[in-house]
Amino acid sequence: MKIVAYGIRNDEKPALEEWKAEHSDVEVVDTAELLTPETAKLAEGADGAVVYQQLDYTRETLEALAKLGVTNLSLRNVGTDNIDFAAAKELNFKISNVPVYSPNAIAEHAAIQVSSILSQQKVMEHKVEKHDLRWEPTIRREVRDQVVGVIGTGHIGQVFMQIMEGFGAKVLAYDLFRNPELEAKGYYVDSIEELVSQVDVLSLHVPHFPGKNDHMIDADMIAKMKDNAVLVNVSRGMLVDTDAVINALDSGKLFGFVMDTYEGEVGVFNKDWSKDGLEDKRLANLIARENVYVTPHTAFYTTHAVKEMVQKSLDNNLAFIEGKEAPTPVKWPEV
Ligand code: COI
Repeated sequence: MKIVAYGIRNDEKPALEEWKAEHSDVEVVDTAELLTPETAKLAEGADGAVVYQQLDYTRETLEALAKLGVTNLSLRNVGTDNIDFAAAKELNFKISNVPVYSPNAIAEHAAIQVSSILSQQKVMEHKVEKHDLRWEPTIRREVRDQVVGVIGTGHIGQVFMQIMEGFGAKVLAYDLFRNPELEAKGYYVDSIEELVSQVDVLSLHVPHFPGKNDHMIDADMIAKMKDNAVLVNVSRGMLVDTDAVINALDSGKLFGFVMDTYEGEVGVFNKDWSKDGLEDKRLANLIARENVYVTPHTAFYTTHAVKEMVQKSLDNNLAFIEGKEAPTPVKWPEV
C-alpha cells in the first residue's frame, strides 16, 4: 500500500515519521509540493493521497489524480469549501477531512486576541517602545464586563465559550442546529440579529458554505451591532465583508477586529512579503491598525493540532485504501 502526502512541511515530519513507524506495511512518500494538475503525477502508483492546502481542489486537479487511479483523498484539515464536490462525485472520489484536531488551538487563539484588543495591548506596546510611559488614555476593558456572542456552537465555539466564561464574561450564542446541553443552559438567542445587538464581542465559529453564508457579517449586520464591539473571525475569510469592517473601524463603530482568516488570503498568507512588500494594500492597512490583530490563518497552528492533523488524515486514507469505513469521511454537500 502506498500513500503520497502532498505539501508536507518540516513541522509535520515528526508526526509523519511516528505514523510510518507504526505502519511498516504502508509506504508513505512525502513531498513539499502542493497538489496541482502538474504535481498529480507524483501520485503515480499510489493508492491514496493526503493533502493540505489553501489552493482549490479543482476539477482539473481531481481529474489528473483520477486518471492515475487515485481517488482516495484525505485532507489534513477541516475546511472543505475549496473542493469541487461536483467533479469529485463524478470521478468517484472518497474524501475525508479531520473535523476535530484541536478545538483548543483555535479557541485559545481567539480568546487571547480578544483579551489583547480589549486591553489595547498594541497601543500600549507602541507607547512603551517609544518610552511614553503614561497611563492615559490606554485603559483596559475587562473580559468579565463583556457580553460575548458566539455564532456556531460546534467544538471550537464551545471551547471558546468556556474560556470566555472562565474570564467571567456572560456568553450568548446562535446556531441553526442547537446543542441540547447548551440549550438547556439557556445560551441561545433566536437570530443572529438578536445576538449582535446584545454583545460586546462577536466571534464566528462556523464553516463557510459558498453561496450561502458569504459576507454574513456585512455593513447591514455591523450596523445592527452594539457600538464599540469587537469582531472576531478565526473561521473563514468569506464570512466577513472586509471593506465593511474597515469602514466600521474608520467610523469608530467597531472597537477592534481580530482577523485570522481573510477573504483574500489564498496566495497571500503563508508567504514572506517582507522583502518585496505586501501587494494587498487593504491587508497592509488592516495590519497597520492598532485596534486590529491580523494573523495569517495560524489560529490552528500548534504542535498538538499538527500531530493530530497528520496522523488522523493518514488513518482515514489507509481505511479508504483497505476498503474500511474511514473514521471521518467528509459530509458531502448537495451538488
Ligand atoms: C482548517 O482546518 O480547515 C483550517 O482552517 C486550518 C488550515 C489552515 C490548516
